[in-house]
Amino acid sequence: MDSEELEQIILKIIQDSRYHESLHSGLDYEKIRTRLTPFTLDEPGGIDAIIRAIEGYLETSVQTGHPGFLRAFWGASEPASIVASLLTDIRNTTMHSFAVAPSATIIETEMIKAISDLAGFPGHGIFTTGGSNSNELGFLCAREDVLPGSSKTGLNGQNLRAFASSEAHYSVDAAANMMGIGTDALIRIPCIDGKIDVRALDQAIIEEKENGNLPFIVLSTAGTTVRGVFDNLDAVSEIAQKHGIWHHVDAAWGGAALFSDKHISLLKGIEKADSFAFDAHKMIGSSMVCSAFLVQDESILPRTMSHTNQGDYLFDDPNKELSLGRISPQCGRRADALKLWLSWLELGKKGLGEKVDSCIEASKHLADLVEKHPELSLVSYSFSNVCIRFTPLPNETIEQGDLRVRMARNYLEDQGKCMVLDSVLDGQLVIRFTASHPNVDKAATETFLSNLIDTKKNLSL
Ligand SMILES: Cc1ncc(COP(=O)(O)O)c(C=O)c1O
Repeated sequence: MDSEELEQIILKIIQDSRYHESLHSGLDYEKIRTRLTPFTLDEPGGIDAIIRAIEGYLETSVQTGHPGFLRAFWGASEPASIVASLLTDIRNTTMHSFAVAPSATIIETEMIKAISDLAGFPGHGIFTTGGSNSNELGFLCAREDVLPGSSKTGLNGQNLRAFASSEAHYSVDAAANMMGIGTDALIRIPCIDGKIDVRALDQAIIEEKENGNLPFIVLSTAGTTVRGVFDNLDAVSEIAQKHGIWHHVDAAWGGAALFSDKHISLLKGIEKADSFAFDAHKMIGSSMVCSAFLVQDESILPRTMSHTNQGDYLFDDPNKELSLGRISPQCGRRADALKLWLSWLELGKKGLGEKVDSCIEASKHLADLVEKHPELSLVSYSFSNVCIRFTPLPNETIEQGDLRVRMARNYLEDQGKCMVLDSVLDGQLVIRFTASHPNVDKAATETFLSNLIDTKKNLSL
């Protein structure tokens, strides 16, 4: 492909990718597979094969920028982050060495400082493969902190124990699994109104110590996945400090509030934590993925990633101290920080904060409407998460109510009208709505609501 053809294709993608009436053209595996066939060719297919393939892809993929896409914490990509992604591909590089990515290294370092600055952190950290990976790094740093040298020696027979609320994201289980302590070593603490019960946390840490185990991390959540609730970060820090254990905040979802003057108080106390995870690919709108792990102690990442000493063939250049590969678990790594960089330059903190405010406002509008609606019950509302159930029918069991929720959700998704999640909250299935991209405005929430009520009628629920 020559550069003229490349330009032609990029233009085509941009023009064709504007969203259409329906959210998707069907979710049938075989039909999509048939539409996309062939996947490989023996003879060169040239640009025509590429164009056919792109048309098939655009036709069969979900339009996540559609106002009815309410199922995830991400949606339409910020245009500036699409440009950054392209820029990353055009100067194709990897982030392991300053020598091969000098400008990208500086941009990543500056983005780490800028996010840190918003949170009252000193400016150390690394971009990762996502919030899950950022939480995992929190676990690894905490292990190195409690057992110095364990990146080399392993756990030396210690029974490490981690703590997170019952509503924390499942990536904490992944972290416990992948660092080798196993998910049984993760103690899930009950919540009060979606927030970690700090007394129960304190008690659980005491009990684990008494049993001869070694508590090493408490993970609090700023914006839980289902409810959107923020743990009391000050109180968790106090307990972590009292017991001398690491406090990591999973702010993958709620960290977007750092940009909003109106809502930053949700993150009160984050500056006292040891580390936090932040996903710019959620409400901030960077395209997938753009996530950072931020940490107070400058020395912890180099110690935790001490295995990189073995990579002398990569890190032998004169500027090896500047090479971010020394503090990352990855070798090859995309220059994801460029996505946040260009969006921040285009919109400013003000514009990014307004995106956050607008999502929260849209959700509040929906929560108000649901609260007043006789056929719906507002189970929970916080940040940008609205959890809804149909008002119970006389003598209806929880299971029957769950079935109505499941059927409505599936129908909405099948029809391509809107996509939401359903999830168990306090023992019952709820529809979880979130506004996470600017195309979800107040009008979009009203359309969602009328679709939900129509579905109830159409299915006689
Ligand atoms: C609270 C929370 N933490 C972490 C994650 C994982 O983030 P990622 O998908 O970037 O790995 C999510 C995902 O939605 C989340 O809701």
